Amino acid sequence: MCGIVAATAQRDVVPLLIAGLKALEYRGYDSAGISVLEDGKLARVRAAGKVRELEALYDAHPVAGVTGIAHTRWATHGVPNTINAHPHVSSDRVAVVHNGIIENHVELREELKAHGYRFESETDTEVIAHLVDHALSRGADLRGAVLSATRRLHGAYAIAVLSRDQPGQIVGARRGSPLVAGLGDGEHFLGSDVQALIKQTSRFIYLEEGDIVEISREDLAIFNADGEPVERPVRTSELSADAVERGEYRHYMLKEIFEQPRAIADTLEGRISENRILPNIFGVNADALLSRVKHVQIVACGTSYHAGLVARYWLEGLVGLPCSVEVASEYRYRHVVVPEGTLFLAVSQSGETADTLAALREGKRHGYLGSLTICNVPESSLVRESDLVLMTRAGPEIGVASTKAFTTQLAALALLVFELARLNGIEPARYSRLVAELATLPRVVGEVLKLDPEIAALAERFVPKHHALFLGRGVHYPVALEGALKLKEISYIHAEAYPAGELKHGPLALVDEDMPVITVAPNNQLLEKLKSNMEEVRARGGELFVFADTDAPVAQSGSRGAVLKIASGGNLIAPAVFTVPLQLLAYHVAVLRGTDVDQPRNLAKSVTVE
Ligand code: AGP
Repeated sequence: MCGIVAATAQRDVVPLLIAGLKALEYRGYDSAGISVLEDGKLARVRAAGKVRELEALYDAHPVAGVTGIAHTRWATHGVPNTINAHPHVSSDRVAVVHNGIIENHVELREELKAHGYRFESETDTEVIAHLVDHALSRGADLRGAVLSATRRLHGAYAIAVLSRDQPGQIVGARRGSPLVAGLGDGEHFLGSDVQALIKQTSRFIYLEEGDIVEISREDLAIFNADGEPVERPVRTSELSADAVERGEYRHYMLKEIFEQPRAIADTLEGRISENRILPNIFGVNADALLSRVKHVQIVACGTSYHAGLVARYWLEGLVGLPCSVEVASEYRYRHVVVPEGTLFLAVSQSGETADTLAALREGKRHGYLGSLTICNVPESSLVRESDLVLMTRAGPEIGVASTKAFTTQLAALALLVFELARLNGIEPARYSRLVAELATLPRVVGEVLKLDPEIAALAERFVPKHHALFLGRGVHYPVALEGALKLKEISYIHAEAYPAGELKHGPLALVDEDMPVITVAPNNQLLEKLKSNMEEVRARGGELFVFADTDAPVAQSGSRGAVLKIASGGNLIAPAVFTVPLQLLAYHVAVLRGTDVDQPRNLAKSVTVE
């Protein structure tokens, strides 16, 4: 995780480095730091905590320079304090920022100590600074020194390196962690992603695995892992600088919840028309692959995994295709048996989640029919490494808690399910009905958002709680899982989700008058079963908060708990629709409890380490 930004220009780069770090804070926010070449010397400012702490320190003790590197950290090795904050330096000559994990840092540390290097931090990164310095002291230039240092590293890295000996130059490298180069007018940049640099340029080069990049004000050159010059295409980003602004909203999360009607509409735009899926939305010739699919293996993490769970119900229920869903961190280390004709389906907002990416790479060795990624970030590693891709077009999601990413993933997964249904001979009228229902999703979500004031009032009742249970059945069990994840990650209330029928096999023991039980109750074939489960809760004094379909015969019982009516708009889209009030509930509870909604403790948006 961690965010990197670097710049070499004719102007003072510190303000743009700080702006870049703020845009990258979603990647980690334990500490931050900057290093610039000031009057021929390496100047460094570092602070524990968020970028605003660094900014305050910089305001009090400004540094300036035309070449600099900067970092915002999500701690892996060593506690989040100033000493462990990046950049790390060696011999007052080299400064390094790093995103990733160096697995052999202990051995390298011992070796470098034997060469006389002293370590000041507990990080794995500091070995990189000393390795580069060691190579420089043996006569290498900066690029050569970075190349020789990276050859010694096991694990994942994206780095940017600055040397007092080569002012005006920065060398970057990547393997396993993302790095882009930005092309300005008489200036060049490096960043963990496009968002960090979009205010400076819209022209980018996405570096490939093993690449080393050398930038100066006027020049940019890329070399492969063997040190040979290579060409990489320049791409123009369509991201607008405004897309990463919070606007009138108090938090990014709230903005992103309210953006869902637009984000879902964008995801569907140009992909459905006249109640059918348009040809080639998965790419020309995708049908040739999709028509041979006999089984689907979905791999993802967190919220994206929950989207995958919903898709399993659709694939098995609507298409009749067997489907397995697994969290990537388990899948990647398991001996998997792949049935013939299996499609590997990765789902990821960022496209950079280390476990999902490793699972895709591992999957390629197992004889899958092919791979497809559903993703929100164009040019991300998962997108580039998959055979087929369907982008979700949610726009940048800054809040650490995924919201619009989830509902747009569901929309994209529904498109895939319909395409597979068509290829497997679904009855045409049923197919048209399903596509037509999907097309209503933006409007239906827009209606549900109007319940925001009611949900905000309901949230007050959760503020003193320490625990909460979420219940759902069938395709709404993943919705309950997603609701519980939202509540726990931003309000820090311990929340768990169960299939409602499983309650009596253990979790019911937790239910007493202090336990709120949040139930997702769409008006489907499982409603009567669900109502029995709700009675089991009531009988034990549990407080039931029910999100029920408008036409579901579910009524408030007594003065405790509450029933909130949701117009779900149909069984297909109901999982996406019912998720929205759960997002709002988690949001308002978190605001009332005074947590850091957009950047909850210990987390980061993009989990690019194992
Ligand atoms: C949930 O709110 C989190 N953002 C997290 O669970 C996330 O979904 C997970 O880390 C996977 O990220 P990805 O979709 O970018 O792969």
